[in-house]
Amino acid sequence: MKKLIAANWKMNFTMAEAREFVSHILQDAKNYPDILDKAEFLICAPSVYLSALSKFSKEGVMTIGGQDCSFHGKGAYTGEISAEMLRDVGCTHVIVGHSERREYHGEQNDLIAGKAQSAYKNGIKAIICVGESLKERDAHLHKEVVKRQLLESVPKEATAENTVISYEPVWAIGTGKTPSPKDAGEMHNFIRALITKHYSGGENMRILYGGSMNSENAKELLSTPNVDGGLIGGASLNVDKFFAVAKCA
Ligand code: PGA
Repeated sequence: MKKLIAANWKMNFTMAEAREFVSHILQDAKNYPDILDKAEFLICAPSVYLSALSKFSKEGVMTIGGQDCSFHGKGAYTGEISAEMLRDVGCTHVIVGHSERREYHGEQNDLIAGKAQSAYKNGIKAIICVGESLKERDAHLHKEVVKRQLLESVPKEATAENTVISYEPVWAIGTGKTPSPKDAGEMHNFIRALITKHYSGGENMRILYGGSMNSENAKELLSTPNVDGGLIGGASLNVDKFFAVAKCA
């Protein structure tokens, strides 16, 4: 399985910077074609840029994704963006249930499952995020918390074709801290066992790691069993640093 090297730009960049970034990635991928045997890129950009960026999208090289979608199909939901709209502008993926959505927008597991189903209906892959807080990890509740988030926010109809899981310990996001390879491996194995048991094709579903991944720690994290790629925030804001993560794959 190729590693998925996914950028989560969050609320960053101007249109010009965004265009410059994706052209740069395509050029780098041309210069280092071996990388594409091992990795593919996904850029999850602010929604206002998606239409312009999807013109650069190339299957197997670099595709474009949204950072969130509505769980409604369409209608009077001011400010919302539907999965159908994301597909319409060329997105292949959408992140749902990121911890920043869970924390700042009060999103709960059932809403997140609804968003994933909305993505499925429109032929878009849902990247469903799960992860424990520091308090939960310190209290040794991390597995219990992740299990609950997973089983409640990943819909029954999830398969390896329509779903990617992203394990993102909240305490690692934007902090420069990462779990040890042993701890990351333990959680990824735990998630693999859970999704294999509960979802059809769970043994082939991609599980990304997210939280302060960068070119210094990516080699170790990406060579951990059941780590099938990364969801990268901070280090995806500099094209050279982001490409360096892919080189680690
Ligand atoms: P980070 O963000 O790489 O800046 O920790 C990852 C994420 O929030 O997806």
